[in-house]
Amino acid sequence: MKAYHLNGHAGAGRLACVDVGKPEPSDGEVRIRVEAASLNYRDLLILDRAGQGEINGRVPLSDGAGVVDAIGAGVAQWRLGDRVAASFFRNWISGPFKSSYIPSSLGGNTMDGMLAEYVVLPATALVSVPAHLSAVEAATLPCAGVTAFHGLIARGGMRKGDTLLVQGTGGVALFGLQFAVALGARAIVISSSDEKLARAKALGGSILINYRDTPDWDVALMNATDGRGASHILELGGPGTYDRSLRSVASGGKIVQIGVLTGFGPKPDLARLQWENADIIGVTVGSVEHFAAMNRFLTEHAIHPIVDRVYDFDDVPEAYAHLRTGSHFGKIVIRL
Ligand SMILES: NC(=O)c1ccc[n+]([C@@H]2O[C@H](COP(=O)([O-])OP(=O)(O)OC[C@H]3O[C@@H](n4cnc5c(N)ncnc54)[C@H](OP(=O)(O)O)[C@@H]3O)[C@@H](O)[C@H]2O)c1
Repeated sequence: MKAYHLNGHAGAGRLACVDVGKPEPSDGEVRIRVEAASLNYRDLLILDRAGQGEINGRVPLSDGAGVVDAIGAGVAQWRLGDRVAASFFRNWISGPFKSSYIPSSLGGNTMDGMLAEYVVLPATALVSVPAHLSAVEAATLPCAGVTAFHGLIARGGMRKGDTLLVQGTGGVALFGLQFAVALGARAIVISSSDEKLARAKALGGSILINYRDTPDWDVALMNATDGRGASHILELGGPGTYDRSLRSVASGGKIVQIGVLTGFGPKPDLARLQWENADIIGVTVGSVEHFAAMNRFLTEHAIHPIVDRVYDFDDVPEAYAHLRTGSHFGKIVIRL
């Protein structure tokens, strides 16, 4: 079978398409014929480390969906032909997060990911794909979708009448926007592009701010909400956005701390948090249980993920290059 490996010696793309043996499932495992995989911002950070230490030779990408193709002994919950997606952390099944789950993230330092024709995973690390979604759509869910659902709904309790701020129009942001619209919450979108803001409006975004033209977007947000601010914020930027997020949060609001788009380690002035009785919710993706709950929500509200562009398996380096431009709206997917 074919798979991509992160490879620091593979030229500028740092990705090598290689022929490797088809993996066989052991006890408790399932083999998946991967039909589609999707890219996240994280995959750029990982690609930039290709060639360094244990990451060299790993199969990239946490996100993929496909069909159960072989089943190991002792697996009762899956049948051949079942449509499944892999959860981001193979060991975080349910309950609260433990830092010991970190090494079980797919497509990172220590675990192979989904950019291969076949993958073997524990039967417990999979969810059923919602019936209304194609494999391409399902492949967008594991990282961006689950992160937004876990932060905003499972932990953040977002509901009708709330106001959500999303930063940009990438994968996590558009899942947040779609969840808010489905719940009857108001969605505020900031973006570098008027054209993307028009598309976000068509999805149900109601306050649209161009952060290039309006660098003080927190002031514009407060004006547009009559000084109330956003009850929920998907904090995706990090150091470059965090203080403005704090100045945008409503009394009793929640900042869901997720992103590193402008770098790591924000050093925010947290004084406002106290005066507004607001909370920060830290999120690393989510569990299999979160993923299954999100899939019920997607089904209930007939939500289809926003797919920007689909690439062939031969064109993976181009897909990464497209992600790096930041010109996408929603998710970039590889079809196998
Ligand atoms: N903690 C976790 O578990 C977790 C999980 C998933 C993702 N993340 C993080 O969340 C972030 C988003 O991930 P993603 O995969 O959704 O990214 P993505 O699809 O690559 O989104 C990129 C978009 O973000 C917007 N953006 C960039 N800089 C911005 C800024 N300074 N202010 C506002 N928007 C900005 C741009 O949108 P416009 O072109 O519209 O301006 C850009 O196109 C990343 O930092 C990622 O590492 C964390």
